[in-house]
Amino acid sequence: MRSQLQRRIQRYGWDKAVDDYEAGWKASLALVQSRLLKTAEAKKGEDVLDLACGTGLVSFPLAQAIGPEGRLVATDISEKMVEELEAVAHAIRATNIEATRADGEMLDMFDDQRFDLVTCALGLMYFPEPMNTFRQSLRVLKPGGRAVFAVWGARKNCGWADIFPIVDARVQSEVCPMFFRMGTGSVMANELKEAGFTDIKEERISTVLPFANDENAITAAFTGGPVALAYGRFDEATRAEAKQEYLASIAPYKNSNGYEIPGEFVVCSARKAE
Ligand SMILES: C[S@@+](CC[C@H](N)C(=O)[O-])C[C@H]1O[C@@H](n2cnc3c(N)ncnc32)[C@H](O)[C@@H]1O
Repeated sequence: MRSQLQRRIQRYGWDKAVDDYEAGWKASLALVQSRLLKTAEAKKGEDVLDLACGTGLVSFPLAQAIGPEGRLVATDISEKMVEELEAVAHAIRATNIEATRADGEMLDMFDDQRFDLVTCALGLMYFPEPMNTFRQSLRVLKPGGRAVFAVWGARKNCGWADIFPIVDARVQSEVCPMFFRMGTGSVMANELKEAGFTDIKEERISTVLPFANDENAITAAFTGGPVALAYGRFDEATRAEAKQEYLASIAPYKNSNGYEIPGEFVVCSARKAE
């Protein structure tokens, strides 16, 4: 029941975030997304499944790498994200992409051993039970197939993390109760092993998230991500109070360039045994 509620919060939260997502986060996520793409080494003609695809910041480069003879299936729990990705795919005439709304833990619509590669960039933190994703990914991969997952790192290394307690203090259900679990220690690598993957490699990446001013930092935190649904329901006074609290929490990272907030990511790659 709690997992179902979390999935609904994510689904409708990200529907709300779609218009501000890239403005808020594209620059800050480019480093980890390019690391995931490099690790994934998608090749011409491959069949790829991209989970929690969002607006397609990872899906489009993957589609380009596999070329017209390959096939990329992009899925996300948010209908609006899928629609946005489809609209861009149509506009750029990317004929090798199929976009579908799907929960990243439920891959029943895909046959066993269909894909060469499964990717998920910055989605697993929002999944209530990521082990379902790992087991299902293993099932849909061909023998020898690869999987690459990227998540935010440990809470103490992410300077924007107070956004969650600030919003949670003003709502009934926590927005992302397990957000930092996968990126703490070797939790993701250990769970991939437990699911049955082999050849598991883990990389931890430190970065700095640039925001030009207060407004950019607030857009990213409140309207360009998963708390957008909760924030949209606050009255004006509550919004102003939450924004002030958030700005106070990131004040140590303010400088003449705006904000440079520390962040950390973990990228894990793994393989299905031959
Ligand atoms: C931070 S965005 C990442 C989007 C994209 N992969 C990227 O790298 O830009 C997180 C995405 O996870 C999706 N998401 C959250 N929970 C999900 C779930 N249970 N199943 C599938 N997608 C989910 C959201 O809708 C959102 O599009």
